[in-house]
Amino acid sequence: MSLTVMSFWKKFRTIVITGASSGIGAAFVPKLREKCPDAHIYGLSRSHPTEGEKLLYDPISVDLTNPADLERLEQDLPRIFAQGPVLLINNSGFGSYGPFPQPDLENHLNMMDLNVKAPVWLVGRALPWLRREGGAIINVASTAGFQPTPFLSTYGATKAFLLHWSMGLHHDLKKDGIRVLALCPGPTATDFFRRAGFEGKVVPDAFGQTSEQVVQAAMRALEKNRSLVVSGWKNKILVAVSSKLPKALGTALSARVLAKVRQ
Ligand SMILES: NC(=O)c1ccc[n+]([C@@H]2O[C@H](COP(=O)([O-])OP(=O)(O)OC[C@H]3O[C@@H](n4cnc5c(N)ncnc54)[C@H](OP(=O)(O)O)[C@@H]3O)[C@@H](O)[C@H]2O)c1
Repeated sequence: MSLTVMSFWKKFRTIVITGASSGIGAAFVPKLREKCPDAHIYGLSRSHPTEGEKLLYDPISVDLTNPADLERLEQDLPRIFAQGPVLLINNSGFGSYGPFPQPDLENHLNMMDLNVKAPVWLVGRALPWLRREGGAIINVASTAGFQPTPFLSTYGATKAFLLHWSMGLHHDLKKDGIRVLALCPGPTATDFFRRAGFEGKVVPDAFGQTSEQVVQAAMRALEKNRSLVVSGWKNKILVAVSSKLPKALGTALSARVLAKVRQ
């Protein structure tokens, strides 16, 4: 690791990760612990692991879709953010499989609150500190954000929002010295698919990635101040093709693929 890269990571004093309790968020924690030894790491989610190793982050219990929880969190933010340069990772998110509005409308509205509203809320609240102290933002979007995704229509649309919003922010906040990265993983072995209502093993080992591979791609891209990283070469090829297709054709093709995955 070059000196410039080392000093990039060492400068962070506060790291806030939403959804550090499992999957991709959990995989960020040990890597950041290693690279940012002086930083406080806060994990924001509804639950936190209680078994096994000692938690490597300070747990903050919050449902990011609950206005009362957000109000409580807001009171706590000055204490969290005032410690120095901030790295904010908006990672919490979920999807639901099935034609809209399965399983129910409430689920889709909740998904929009978590996948879209919560990152905008957190970035908005963090911005005064980011501007004052410097810092960086990673928003976890998805390869699902590159084309319409029938059977995951709301999910794909939330990730398209995050992808485009993050790339716009990358441009808007450059003048303040704030890096913004849209991280787009493809299928990754986590709890995501079970929570989304898929049955059985959805992602073949040959195609999927591990959370650690996704985190490595994200950290390299942030070091290089990229605005976007699609994690994994197979996913890169897939999005290069799908984003060139006419929208209607891309929709029809992803409908064919996504109709099959549950079987
Ligand atoms: N796995 C994939 O194939 C894949 C691909 C592309 C993008 N992604 C994205 O990657 C991100 C992480 O997902 P993952 O794959 O690591 O799945 P995961 O293991 O299910 O993790 C989801 C995380 O979100 C948190 N969360 C859920 N509801 C929440 C709420 N209301 N308030 C606060 N936190 C909440 C969960 O914690 P609690 O349940 O404890 O609250 C958990 O830590 C998501 O944004 C997902 O869309 C995943």
